[in-house]
Amino acid sequence: MNLGNTKIVHQLLLSLFVLIFAQEAFAQPKWVRATYRDDPSTTLSLGWTGIVGTVYYDTVNHGTNYAAYNLTKTVDRSTSHKGNNHYFVRLTNLQPGTVYYFVIQYGGTSVSSQYSFRTISDDPNQAISFISGGDSRQRVNVFGVGDPSCWGDGCRETRQDLNRIVGKIRPDFIAFTGDYIRNYDIFPFDSEDDWADWMDDWELTNGPDGRITPIIHALGNHEDAVDLDELFDVSNADIYYATNFGGNLFRLYTLNSEPADACADVIQKNWLLNDLQQNSTPSNTPYWKVVQYHQPMIPHAEYSARTDLINCWASEFATYGVRLSCESHTHVLKTTYPLKYDASAATSYNSLVRDDTVGAVFLGDGAWGAPPRTAYAAIPDVTQDVEQISGFFFVNIDKQRIQIKTVVPFPDSMANVPQLLDDDQGTLLPAGVPLWRPANGSECIIIPNYNPILAVTKIDVQRAPAAVVAPNPAQEYITVRFKEALTEAVTIEIYDARGKRCQSHTNVTNQNFKVDVSNLCSGVNFINIVTKKDVESHKVVIVK
Ligand SMILES: [Fe+2]
Repeated sequence: MNLGNTKIVHQLLLSLFVLIFAQEAFAQPKWVRATYRDDPSTTLSLGWTGIVGTVYYDTVNHGTNYAAYNLTKTVDRSTSHKGNNHYFVRLTNLQPGTVYYFVIQYGGTSVSSQYSFRTISDDPNQAISFISGGDSRQRVNVFGVGDPSCWGDGCRETRQDLNRIVGKIRPDFIAFTGDYIRNYDIFPFDSEDDWADWMDDWELTNGPDGRITPIIHALGNHEDAVDLDELFDVSNADIYYATNFGGNLFRLYTLNSEPADACADVIQKNWLLNDLQQNSTPSNTPYWKVVQYHQPMIPHAEYSARTDLINCWASEFATYGVRLSCESHTHVLKTTYPLKYDASAATSYNSLVRDDTVGAVFLGDGAWGAPPRTAYAAIPDVTQDVEQISGFFFVNIDKQRIQIKTVVPFPDSMANVPQLLDDDQGTLLPAGVPLWRPANGSECIIIPNYNPILAVTKIDVQRAPAAVVAPNPAQEYITVRFKEALTEAVTIEIYDARGKRCQSHTNVTNQNFKVDVSNLCSGVNFINIVTKKDVESHKVVIVK
């Protein structure tokens, strides 16, 4: 080696040293997140990525003055997965229904931003709100087909828009039904990058005051069980578990639908049956039972029915009072009528038949940003509504009813919605949050009778549309024809399929309001009628 080469090697080594030193010096906790492993009233697993640290926490907010926090907890578990080091602190003995503030102290005297979380109340008289949704993978076109704007890093806007809505409306927790990322290890994408993007985007769910929203994780087919165990510290590495919320208000079952045959997966099947039985006794019965898993029994795009899930899971639902079943996987929005397993019903949809007294409503099918697919036609007496559109479900549960509304990602519309900062459990959706408003109504209500083991279910479509929008498809003009004379002015807004506001007409009082749509883009648009209390949305197709 000559002298010149030696000098270059020395410079390279020095650069490497500086790089490593700089990374160590500037490493800080990132991607702060939370998972319920156990009782959500008294425990929480806090996780972050980057550098080891200690959690300082308290029911009083001390900002970043870590020494002032009363309680501390060091790392219980660390993992190295998808190119990063992850640290988990399992908090126990928390007070129910209480806001905790925390910081992570690391590297001597460095301290993270201040965050907060709220434990779930243990009082069944308090409502609880959660979001059910899944399939948040970014839209990617690897081979130069499809939308060119999705080439390279892919399109993440839809899941980012939905994540921002989470941060604004403050659900008590997220029930995530799997398929977080794309996870195909083919050039130029790899799952490390996908997970990093996902974690970056999940930070959009944080409130501006540092509030984080815990997740209950279900497993999809685009990640594996190790991912969820090592990235989120779930309570069972096989990814099936159950826990009560609000004392005995409801019990949430998370099931693993990845085994090819749920009937052959005897261990999980027996666990489910045993747990349902133990939680259906006179002295121990939650008011409600809810299940979530990834692959739909009744897919509404792309896939065939999972008859094994129907025969070996849904067969138990009505017997033990499961009233709501949250699915994912096919990238459409779907709600069903209450369905009950009936093996003798040969003409039914794979042994699930409509039964408004004891059936379970099925929500799906995973539309948190993954590319929406062409929806199947509605199945008579099975499908309530289905559409090729993105969104997630906002579920509010109290002892009297389960209320379900479906939020769609219209970011311009969300700009008018105030940021929630309250600490009330079970807070309802703020007015103005853009909702999916399919033909059968924007709201689904499930009502029990007085026997929580065999409760009565009813779908109650609350409100008929206030206006008719015609013609549809339209070319130059659309008339918004209100069924009754308007007693107060409304605002009419038009959004394109990506949620961009294209037109806004304020102070509309005309019962027949004509809108010039000749300058809109071809394709699907949405006309929103905004009142002080609500937003009614109509899908229209513009043709050129
Ligand atoms: Fe999937």
